[in-house]
Amino acid sequence: MARAFAEITFTPEVRALQERHGSVKSYGKFLEPTAEPGDRLSDAEAAFIMERDGFYQATVSATGWPYVQFRGGPKGFLKVLDARTVAYADFRGNRQYLSVGNLATDDRISLILMDYPNRRRLKLWGRARIVDLADEPSLVSRLHDAGYAARPERAVVITVAAFDWNCPQHIPQRLTLDEFQQHLAPLLSELAQLREQNAALRAALPTRR
Ligand SMILES: Cc1cc2nc3c(=O)[nH]c(=O)nc-3n(C[C@H](O)[C@H](O)[C@H](O)COP(=O)(O)O)c2cc1C
Repeated sequence: MARAFAEITFTPEVRALQERHGSVKSYGKFLEPTAEPGDRLSDAEAAFIMERDGFYQATVSATGWPYVQFRGGPKGFLKVLDARTVAYADFRGNRQYLSVGNLATDDRISLILMDYPNRRRLKLWGRARIVDLADEPSLVSRLHDAGYAARPERAVVITVAAFDWNCPQHIPQRLTLDEFQQHLAPLLSELAQLREQNAALRAALPTRR
């Protein structure tokens, strides 16, 4: 936990509840000037981000409603451009443009990136800038994996304000089909060997009359 995270999230109402429930002192140290700033991604965050094939993204509508949408893509589609910047190519979808429309009135954005098998979770806050394909085609093509079947419409470039790692509690362990197949592969190969052995042993048995 670091200062940038605490400054954004520990609102007076949050602090009042921490006070009531006895945690205000232990969390208060993250608001001290001596606390680690925590607004620059290190190699650990960058490596984690580049391994993800999706994330949950929250924006705020012009009417103040939170809006959460899932963004998916090929592994590493959310790119770390530098310690303060992440970006992705945003694909054409159902043409409701809810997230992009929300970002037009409020550029604040929050992401949750999940690693279900290892029960890790990274939360990230930032300010998003939308760059249309027509305005900066080179940026969008740099962010887009041409082998992935989707049509990029824009780039979402996020200046990181804060991040925080969560503890693994209550994160269910889940595997994607790819991850499951990696676990399955040695078992399938063992099964094939056993089947072969079994067929050879059966063939070697004396035939019944
Ligand atoms: C034809 C089509 C229909 C879709 N329908 C849905 C849907 O019903 N719900 C949903 O969450 N996403 C749906 N999607 C995926 C979204 O369009 C996509 O995630 C997009 O990025 C939505 O962004 P937004 O919610 O910020 O507008 C659909 C995509 C396509 C191409």
